[in-house]
Amino acid sequence: MELNALFSGVALKGFKVKNRIVFPAMVCFGYTGDDGIVGPGNIEHYRKRAESGAGIVITEATAVKEDGRAANSQLGVWSDDHIAGLSELTSIVRSHGSVSLLQLHHAGLVTPPAVSPVQFCPSADPDKPSSRELTKDAIHEIITAFIKGAIRARESGFDGIELHGAHGYLLNQFANPLWNHRTDEYGGSFQNRLRFATEVIHGIRKECGNEFILGYRMGANTPSLEDGIKTAIYLESIGLDYIHVSHGGNLQNLPRPPKGFEYNWIVYSGVKVREQLKIPVIVVNEIKTAERANALIEGGLADFVSIGRPQLADPYWVKHIQNGENINACFSCKPRCRWYETSDLCPARKKLKQQQPD
Ligand SMILES: Cc1cc2nc3c(=O)[nH]c(=O)nc-3n(C[C@H](O)[C@H](O)[C@H](O)COP(=O)(O)O)c2cc1C
Repeated sequence: MELNALFSGVALKGFKVKNRIVFPAMVCFGYTGDDGIVGPGNIEHYRKRAESGAGIVITEATAVKEDGRAANSQLGVWSDDHIAGLSELTSIVRSHGSVSLLQLHHAGLVTPPAVSPVQFCPSADPDKPSSRELTKDAIHEIITAFIKGAIRARESGFDGIELHGAHGYLLNQFANPLWNHRTDEYGGSFQNRLRFATEVIHGIRKECGNEFILGYRMGANTPSLEDGIKTAIYLESIGLDYIHVSHGGNLQNLPRPPKGFEYNWIVYSGVKVREQLKIPVIVVNEIKTAERANALIEGGLADFVSIGRPQLADPYWVKHIQNGENINACFSCKPRCRWYETSDLCPARKKLKQQQPD
């Protein structure tokens, strides 16, 4: 099988990326403690994926504020105490020739009660009595936390950051009128709903400089693909370096790919976004095989492809497909991937461990 397109090098800003494969942000709860500091499990996890050969490795959703975590065992970047561990992690990723990015995250409305008794969000949700509308001062505090998170990422040696603006988390909550009912300058019009993201982006650019990669993972259906495309065009215009197109954390306004399009609506959304942009676009979701990934690049439909669960199931997925070797296949667990609880529950990982005990 020829995978020339997938393994072709390309520039991303000032960086040479050795191939088009991205290991996307994927949380590994349990590898870190309540302090959010990188643990040995995190190091080992990223070492293997980088050694395998992904062109870009995006370190999982990392909390910019302790009270905005998605779980108590989520990686953190809210304090200078996180820098040493993140530095170790990224120096290993970079030593294998991967571009190394950190995903910055705040859960907002969906912060679990175990993390915070109140959920800070753009607009309080009447069905969630513990949710609290952010005051303007609190909004500015979170914007500063994102900017400080990016500064710490740069100090830790990352080549750049990705803002988690998808999957219904805080940045996505601001962007989507489904969750944002504010009547001040952070809600209402398109421009106002993107003001939070805009201030984060301008702040990071000012503090981290032009060489630092600044990416955005967006929810395509926010609230519709048409709006998603408008958002991507706007984000490009304010200086983003790439867009990673995923879903918006809700099941409304799902675009329907035309007959004959062999990927799902999330990949389709990425392809449609890319048609309107000059900056690189990463597409993702259920691409699954090297052939399908290669076809997206070869056909000029995407600049990069994220391969998520297959690289969880087989840490050496990239190396194996490049060498034409067997891969340890993902079981596509339903209703959702077992790694959300803990990697030990992953049947593919169990199988691998039986074959090659640690
Ligand atoms: C266990 C798990 C953890 C994830 N963590 C994150 C995350 O930290 N940030 C994020 O943007 N997406 C996250 N995702 C979504 C993935 O990045 C990816 O978009 C999704 O798995 C679909 O791609 P795939 O079909 O190639 O797996 C996660 C997905 C899974 C299964």
